[in-house]
Amino acid sequence: MDASFPDAMIPAASPPMNAPARPAAPPRSPEAAAASAVRLRGVSKSFVRGEARALVLDAVDLQIRPGEATFLVGPSGSGKTTLLSIIGCVLTPDAGAVEVLGRDVRRLNRSQIAALRRREIGFIFQRMHLIRGLTALENVCVPLKLSGWRAAASRRRGLELLAAVGLADRADDNPARMSVGQCQRIALARALAADPALVLADEPTASLDAETGRTAIDLLRRTTVMLGKTLIVVTHDHRILHFADRVIAVEQGRLREQLPSASREALEAAAHGSSASAAVELRLDCTTHLGPPAGL
Ligand SMILES: Nc1ncnc2c1ncn2[C@@H]1O[C@H](COP(=O)(O)OP(=O)(O)OP(=O)(O)O)[C@@H](O)[C@H]1O
Ligand SMILES: [Mg+2]
Repeated sequence: MDASFPDAMIPAASPPMNAPARPAAPPRSPEAAAASAVRLRGVSKSFVRGEARALVLDAVDLQIRPGEATFLVGPSGSGKTTLLSIIGCVLTPDAGAVEVLGRDVRRLNRSQIAALRRREIGFIFQRMHLIRGLTALENVCVPLKLSGWRAAASRRRGLELLAAVGLADRADDNPARMSVGQCQRIALARALAADPALVLADEPTASLDAETGRTAIDLLRRTTVMLGKTLIVVTHDHRILHFADRVIAVEQGRLREQLPSASREALEAAAHGSSASAAVELRLDCTTHLGPPAGL
């Protein structure tokens, strides 16, 4: 990834005026959403392994506040992806309660869960899962198409996102001909396209060299903080842990808080080698770029 791509200035999306009516939003408790972006209580998950069942998550509790950046670490096979998949409503636990953005997932039907995933959760996968045969722009616009955006508005939003991650001039290129770091930036733009409240990333730096990985996670972290999104990252990369508000280890079916929570200012300062006041300035500065995309 070249170091020259601009500071993240990805604006929040406002629904396009000409978008068709969307399916009804799943029921939501505003009080619950304000208190926690994610809340798990007594969540267990096991998988059949040979003759036996292997318990991967053993009655875990977890509460993540809105706007918090939480990094999940732990040995291979410890259940990090399983946990992230349950939070992302991709996997159903065997037992326990899952609340995501104020919704009790157990009370949602399949189409409501699909709507929650599509509209309010952005996913970044280790292997990125960009769609072959689609251009960079078309990949970024997939969530918008699924949410009923008209082509012209979706294109404008997609181009804006690609510009924000420094790839404005590669919109019509096929990701197959782009570097891994560039593909990672497309995946980030796609994850943010529909302006989700919750962004989940499973080893987003795993395919990247150290410097590119650091730059990618810096962009991801700053963008989500600026837009007030909740971020959960699974990682093996201990060099990026200073970008976290919280680090939670997944070990032998349990969760263990690894580092005490620190104030956002202190973390910003640590992450950017700057003072706390500079971090506050960064946030204020960013709010000037958060208007709706032009012409929507
Ligand atoms: N669909 C499945 N069927 C059976 N077993 C599974 C399934 N998904 C995960 N597992 C098992 O559950 C355990 C946890 O898997 P998981 O993918 O959550 O680990 P992880 O912490 O993400 O590991 P890694 O760091 O290697 O990605 C592993 O032992 C894995 O083999
Ligand atoms: Mg995994």
